[in-house]
Amino acid sequence: MASHGPAQKMTARPSGPLKGVAEVPGDKSISHRALILGALAVGETRISGLLEGQDVLDTARAMAAFGAGVVRHGMGRWSVHGVGVGGFAEPEDVIDCGNSGTGVRLIMGAMATSPITATFTGDASLRSRPMGRVTDPLALFGARAVGRDGGRLPMTIVGAAEPVPVDYTTPMASAQVKSAVLLAGLGAPGQTVVTEHSPTRDHTERMLRGFGAEVATESTGKGFRIAVTGHPELQPQTIAVPRDPSSATFPVCAALIVPGSDVLVANIGMSPTRAGLFTTLREMGADLTFENPREEGGEPVADLRARYSPDMKGVEVPPVRAPSMIDEYPILSVVAAFAEGATLMAGVHELRVKESDRIDAMAEGLRACGVAVDETEDSFTVHGRGPGGVPGGTTCAARLDHRIAMSFLICGLAARAPVSVDDAGPIATSFPAFEPLMRDLGAELIAGDR
Ligand code: S3P
Repeated sequence: MASHGPAQKMTARPSGPLKGVAEVPGDKSISHRALILGALAVGETRISGLLEGQDVLDTARAMAAFGAGVVRHGMGRWSVHGVGVGGFAEPEDVIDCGNSGTGVRLIMGAMATSPITATFTGDASLRSRPMGRVTDPLALFGARAVGRDGGRLPMTIVGAAEPVPVDYTTPMASAQVKSAVLLAGLGAPGQTVVTEHSPTRDHTERMLRGFGAEVATESTGKGFRIAVTGHPELQPQTIAVPRDPSSATFPVCAALIVPGSDVLVANIGMSPTRAGLFTTLREMGADLTFENPREEGGEPVADLRARYSPDMKGVEVPPVRAPSMIDEYPILSVVAAFAEGATLMAGVHELRVKESDRIDAMAEGLRACGVAVDETEDSFTVHGRGPGGVPGGTTCAARLDHRIAMSFLICGLAARAPVSVDDAGPIATSFPAFEPLMRDLGAELIAGDR
């Protein structure tokens, strides 16, 4: 959707202990990929546990517009009747990817090596984000892109009629860019190669293999090399989407900072390419344990148990860890505000081009809550005020960014005075049940202002 309607103010009040079991929704990254790969397979892919957040619903609609048969059978249960690699139809209308960078960038990749033309747009946040990082490598396949100044949406992609394979090194750590190139490589003859300096989430590679594509990965002197062989016949799959570790961080971090809390967050995907925050929290001294570790559908899974942790200390988060926790810096900066000492988050320039400029958004809101924050172009430092030491008592701007909205609401549960966000609407993009789930644990979340 290009916009989500009127702003929905929400307030978090200082809360009593959070207790209970939280079942967070399906993984957003895997949900997008299940729909897109399902559309590129020949026949019917069945999906359970699909995240029904707006981002993923927009991708489902897009796959239907490219000719796939997309059907919802019940809560999280969907099927996709795929048209095969090279089988996409030309959409009749503009593809609106709403708030989702993952949706638009992966879909651009998936259509760029078909002889069709599609125009993409999104909400004000997505229309401000750079697409050149995807259209540059897609041009190497022979696709053409015409967009607004600075490579912004709305943008039209003319797919390559006679695509050539590509050997591309990503200039930034981005699973979206890597995935767009790999998906475009499916429609090109021969081998398409992507090399990345630091490994990013590897769901596309794993799932492509699951669908029967030939994917070879190796670590070389130049980085991590992924090669996909073009023109495969992808086989439809049955996919159980694991629960989203990025969504799990909100109840987990709330439990760490609200006195007396003890929360179990069940069945969380624990891919090492996604679990950097949990390592960081443990380094800070968080009482966080992984229970019942197991494997489900090829992904490591565990139950996370988080208890109130009044002894957390600030840490330096190493830049190499950034790709494995890139979506988690907003909530980490809230936890850091309740720890003793400074937490330095370096090498995080990519945060400036997410759904919002997340360094600026968190620095501004935390300062308004009474927390000192220093920032540079690619780092920020939160000067922790210790347990119970954050004044709060303000309204923070969510900037059309679900993770910023949720982070400040979690902050308000443990601050001395309530914290509001000016618009909680974007939370529905990734975690539609955030409010009832947090309330069930004992969080005092109310609609409206302080
Ligand atoms: C995602 C990759 C990351 C992440 C986003 C989801 C994906 O973006 O921030 O929420 O599913 O591939 P970048 O590729 O821009 O790092």
